[in-house]
Amino acid sequence: MSESFAELLHRSTTDIDQDLRRHLGATDSPFAEVDSSHYLSRLRQALQYSVLNGGKRIRPLLVHAAAAAVGTTERSEDLAMAASAVEMLHSYSLIHDDLPAMDDDDLRRGQPTCHRAFDEATAILAGDALHSRAFELLTELPTCSATTALKLVALLATAAGPRGMVGGQAIDLASVGQHIDEIQLETLHRLKTGALIRASVALGGTIAGASAAQLRDLDHYGEAIGLAFQVQDDILDIEADTATLGKTQGQDRALNKPTYPSILGMDGAKAKLLALHRQADDALAGFGRDAQLLRQLSDFIVARGH
Ligand code: IPE
Ligand code: IPE
Ligand code: MG
Ligand code: MG
Ligand code: MG
Repeated sequence: MSESFAELLHRSTTDIDQDLRRHLGATDSPFAEVDSSHYLSRLRQALQYSVLNGGKRIRPLLVHAAAAAVGTTERSEDLAMAASAVEMLHSYSLIHDDLPAMDDDDLRRGQPTCHRAFDEATAILAGDALHSRAFELLTELPTCSATTALKLVALLATAAGPRGMVGGQAIDLASVGQHIDEIQLETLHRLKTGALIRASVALGGTIAGASAAQLRDLDHYGEAIGLAFQVQDDILDIEADTATLGKTQGQDRALNKPTYPSILGMDGAKAKLLALHRQADDALAGFGRDAQLLRQLSDFIVARGH
């Protein structure tokens, strides 16, 4: 009997969690020789608390699924490390996003946010540490060439930096209480969330040796599903409840953030989501059955309840 998507998701996220634990040094601690230091042990606890805590692992799943789309079914250590790197980068962005200076959130993945469970300085440092560790990991891939590794570092750096996630977060904060139009909102969402999701797909495709044409198609998929991801995040902020979300429902309205539902209305936001989902599927037309997992992930991203 073939494995259902739910079973596959469970098995893959379990593998990803194990990889993250290893790559974070949670089992074989790089802190070992300094464990006696109270401050470092607190930082280590904060890192583990913020990463090994039940995220959906969408970005690492996309790394593996993009590689599968170009025929790499083996779960190589190169892929596992790149997948961990992108999730660490994402986890850092969540820790900082929740800080009082940003969204000032108390709940993340169903538990107190990092700065609530520890303190603000530790949360800032935990984010910084995850950011650095993500890039360090990309320089340690055991089999890919130095040229490919450099490409991967560039991909992640661009997606994370001022032309990507950090730029989007800056626009997000500057947009509070402002009236922005749909084009400006799209730019904001493409940067703050879309860029890292798009990079996850590109990392997987690049490690798997995708051709230029395949990378272009994968990029169209990543672009569409990256934006769709944040549209659904905006919708869920209104329609879901705090217990299901694992983060405080209604925060966007409380903070006066422009969102897809606030600008297009709920029906308009859902129509946009549908159109992006279709675009993502269309981009995969040339891949055949190998892109099945990418298709299932895009279905999951637009239909998810948290
Ligand atoms: C939440 O991302 C933040 C956004 C970019 C919208 P996820 O919904 O992927 O969060 P986790 O990793 O599953 O907690
Ligand atoms: C966060 O967007 C995007 C990043 C963390 C870069 P949100 O602020 O909407 O994410 P949530 O809703 O807090 O997860
Ligand atoms: Mg935010
Ligand atoms: Mg937030
Ligand atoms: Mg949100």
